Amino acid sequence: MADATSLLRVSPVIPVVTIDDPRRAVPVARALAEGGVGIIELTLRTENALTSLKRIADEVPDIIVGAGTVLTPAQADAAVAAGAQFLVSPGVTPSLLGHMLTLGVPILPGVATVGEVMQVLESGLTAMKFFPAGPAGGPDYVAAIGAPIPQVQFCPTGGVSLSSAPAYLALPNVSCVGGSWLTPRGAVENEDWQQITRLAREAAGLTAALD
Ligand code: 3PG
Repeated sequence: MADATSLLRVSPVIPVVTIDDPRRAVPVARALAEGGVGIIELTLRTENALTSLKRIADEVPDIIVGAGTVLTPAQADAAVAAGAQFLVSPGVTPSLLGHMLTLGVPILPGVATVGEVMQVLESGLTAMKFFPAGPAGGPDYVAAIGAPIPQVQFCPTGGVSLSSAPAYLALPNVSCVGGSWLTPRGAVENEDWQQITRLAREAAGLTAALD
């Protein structure tokens, strides 16, 4: 089941998390869960990202962990083998999209243009990451896509903050947003889990217009 529509309803914000030291992975995930955020997109941008992903998948059952920044079919395979419960890519290529569709986990391909939305829609998916949301045009742009293509639900990510999130969440074609602001690098490095829980709680209090 590749469609990720139900994943977009888990939390109003999907935290985009980058962790250098895998020893911090479990405490970060627990801090987010403690704040009421039950999902993590863990980026594959660090050397030990797959180790971090596996630890979260094994040790924090109350959070859904997915891999972000998936750029190649090989990375998608490695992420699923490490325990990723969903996959997120910043953009789409036919080979990556085709491969991710075979893996049996929900996927959130990144799109930034109407043509890309149509291409992903042709594969049967109706849930997509809209990236990079701010630079690509913000809430007005996402709203405009909804006129011809109302059946697609987006998770706008990239340049979204606690203060800009409500304008996206008010749109009928947005179920959640994504962002890295819940896990600032400084808080992770200083092991300030309380700050992460506080930021998660604030984010979990946002509401989407849907349902
Ligand atoms: C991503 O990969 O989704 C982005 O790097 C997150 O963007 P942000 O740091 O602007 O929230």
